[in-house]
Amino acid sequence: MRIGLLTGGGDCPGLNAVIRAVVRKGTEVHGHEFLGYRDGWRGPLERQTMPLGVEQTRGILPRGGTILGSSRTNPAKVEGGLDLVRDNLAADGVDALIAIGGEDTLGVATQLAAAGVQVVGVPKTIDNDLGATDVTFGFDTAVTIATEAIDRLHTTAGSHHRVLICEVMGRHAGWIALHAGLAGGANVILIPERPFDLEDVCRHVDSRFAQGFSSIVVVAEGASLAEGQLATQEAELDAFGHARLGGIGQLLEREIEARTGREARTTVLGHVQRGGSPTAYDRVLATRFGVHAVDAVSDGESGVMVALQGTAIVRVPLEEATRELKTVPPERYAEAEVFFG
Ligand code: F6P
Repeated sequence: MRIGLLTGGGDCPGLNAVIRAVVRKGTEVHGHEFLGYRDGWRGPLERQTMPLGVEQTRGILPRGGTILGSSRTNPAKVEGGLDLVRDNLAADGVDALIAIGGEDTLGVATQLAAAGVQVVGVPKTIDNDLGATDVTFGFDTAVTIATEAIDRLHTTAGSHHRVLICEVMGRHAGWIALHAGLAGGANVILIPERPFDLEDVCRHVDSRFAQGFSSIVVVAEGASLAEGQLATQEAELDAFGHARLGGIGQLLEREIEARTGREARTTVLGHVQRGGSPTAYDRVLATRFGVHAVDAVSDGESGVMVALQGTAIVRVPLEEATRELKTVPPERYAEAEVFFG
């Protein structure tokens, strides 16, 4: 078979590990050949391709980013886009497509599968908010990076008796904030799933200082005040309609200083969480996803996504994975609340 491969959406540590695994197993065990599509869905939309064989995937296992490039191009937003993708795949002699991406990329994959294209998905996002899989690769790396940052913030916060606010990624799901906050011993964790009250936050800050310690607040970029305001730096929307978020850390900084009289500073971790080498956990998970994705294609599967359930890699309908975001349930947040204040 000739199999097309693309990586879409925000990049994520472990993408190259998936590509390597797909190509290695596909070539050496199944005898397939591969075509790389560049920059997510832009590749099949504009027939932007690159050669992809074992040679191109040597040495990429620990490398961050994606050798295929990525974009947030959405063919469903382009007039006749999905038909064009289908026609271009056929013109390139591609029998099946493996799409590695998050909710948006896999949403397009779902539509293509319904239109008769053989498509298998691989779940990717540092946010860990895809349904049907226990974990997505990239999440462990992001949490590790954020935890290390929080560890470092503790010592400087202590020296200056300051409140240090660490803003992490997570538009709609607070998984990175929850895990990094727990691992880093934050005394307040704020997530999009639970709009927060500034008075509660300031009470936790004061209580930490009263115990003789400085305060670390971890906040997800999509967290909002109880009144429901969403902190957005600019109203610009991407092709999937997402606002570019930012600014909740600064808002907290201002409010905490004004209400507690304590000096506060904000660190926005941003894309540092997405760059660089994947952790060992993410390399293993990404490799297993790649191996199982190419097996699924070889078995003639379509409209499915590989997923981690417990310790097993299983195949689930793409629709199930993209139906709704996996957000932090109240009982998981309650575990973290024990350590607030
Ligand atoms: O979806 C992954 C993610 O890293 C989000 O956590 C974040 O809000 C977004 O991508 C940022 O995307 P961009 O690449 O457009 O800055």
